[in-house]
Amino acid sequence: QEAYLPMDLKSLIRDIPDFPKPGIVFRDITPLLRHPEGLRYTVDLLAQTCKQAGLTPDYVVGIESRGFIFGPPLAYQLGAGFIPVRKPGKLPSAVHTIEYELEYGMDCLEVHQDAFDSGCRILIADDLIATGGTAAATAKLVQKIGCELVGFSFIIELRDLQGRQKLPDAPIVTLVEY
Ligand code: PRP
Ligand code: ADE
Repeated sequence: QEAYLPMDLKSLIRDIPDFPKPGIVFRDITPLLRHPEGLRYTVDLLAQTCKQAGLTPDYVVGIESRGFIFGPPLAYQLGAGFIPVRKPGKLPSAVHTIEYELEYGMDCLEVHQDAFDSGCRILIADDLIATGGTAAATAKLVQKIGCELVGFSFIIELRDLQGRQKLPDAPIVTLVEY
């Protein structure tokens, strides 16, 4: 693991008011993604923080779409595999369905039924936690099918929405708070 000077990640996250609906301030990570050092620093810091918290998953479960950006490099660094949770109708084999609530709507997600070995250790990864609905629903499914939930990782936490209160008791790694 390389050592870095700390970076101000917030300076690489852009606020877009009233997207996708009036009253929502969208925290846009695309400037962070296009910044070579910012991207590398974010992935390395996530992995390092997970390791320090003792999070040693067999699989990182990433949520479409933005959970597919940081989930795989995090899994790679933790020596884990990656399991995609996808929007409906995208996965080709038999699926479990996950119903969830958004800061701005209601939707459902799917994951392959045969993706999980019994008792495997799961880390749930996404770019951002807002209301916590997406991560909480994914956690519920992971626990229902008998996997061990080792924790959660997010780049951004929107603290006022108190999403972490919806999550089951497990370590939560976050890098930036609003
Ligand atoms: C965003 C974000 C999280 C979720 C967080 O995804 O990437 O997955 O919302 O919200 P919550 O904590 O209130 O559940 P979005 O559904 O906008 O989809 P996208 O990743 O495809 O843009
Ligand atoms: N997902 C849910 N709420 C969001 C927000 N305010 N900014 C970016 N992504 C989000």
